[in-house]
Amino acid sequence: MKIIESVQELRDWRKQVSTEQSVGFVPTMGALHLGHTSLLDFCNDENDVSIISIFVNPTQFNDPSDFEKYPKTWETDLALCEKYGADVIFAPRSREELYPDHYHYRIHENQFSNELCGEFRPGHFDGVLSVVMKLFNLIKPTRAYFGEKDHQQLSLIEGMTKAFFMDVDVIPCPTVRESSGLAMSSRNLRLSPIEKELAPMLYQTMREFRDLDQAKASLTKLGFKVEYLVDKVEPKGTRRYAAAWLGNVRLIDNVKL
Ligand code: PAF
Repeated sequence: MKIIESVQELRDWRKQVSTEQSVGFVPTMGALHLGHTSLLDFCNDENDVSIISIFVNPTQFNDPSDFEKYPKTWETDLALCEKYGADVIFAPRSREELYPDHYHYRIHENQFSNELCGEFRPGHFDGVLSVVMKLFNLIKPTRAYFGEKDHQQLSLIEGMTKAFFMDVDVIPCPTVRESSGLAMSSRNLRLSPIEKELAPMLYQTMREFRDLDQAKASLTKLGFKVEYLVDKVEPKGTRRYAAAWLGNVRLIDNVKL
């Protein structure tokens, strides 16, 4: 497994991959868990070469303290990448590697980005789309793998690749859940033992109640601070989206109704 820390080295590596070979890409911010490794499994099955990026992208954090507190588990991440067969890890050594322009240039979507998570995290999706665009331009993946847990992110990335005629297949992968139903997330590492017991109730409540007000009331009674709980009619059917805080940890989830 090769570890690449600079854009120059990444470009050099990409040049020597044969045009005959397919390149699968799994973008992450580290603190890897079984959700990420399932993306690597799909990636390995469908491509000749697998590359994973590990970069806590500063531009997608609207709250600096959330950025500071984002879990970092480099040694475990390395071991998981090795175990799950990544050929290359791209882990930029500094933010300047990916932002030599100091983020003067950015990708902005002007509709869905302002809803759901975007309403509460201004600029978040500009940061996500900008870094994904940069990574796609450098890695030139044949396929890129994203979890359905971040469904709004997935839709926006699909939209961006279509809008900019980008030559990459975005592959949606199912949310991986703990046996309790809690969606796997790097942020779960920050839950206290009591919060960890409560957290699965988000998913359970989203599925149990038809009525949104009742679901919200039930979550609030349990101790969640609900940011949004919304049913959205989409071309592929209705999807229920939620974001809620447990203590200092923000959880998101979505289910197809
Ligand atoms: O989903 C994530 O971990 C991040 O938003 C992504 C796609 C790696 C961009 O930083």
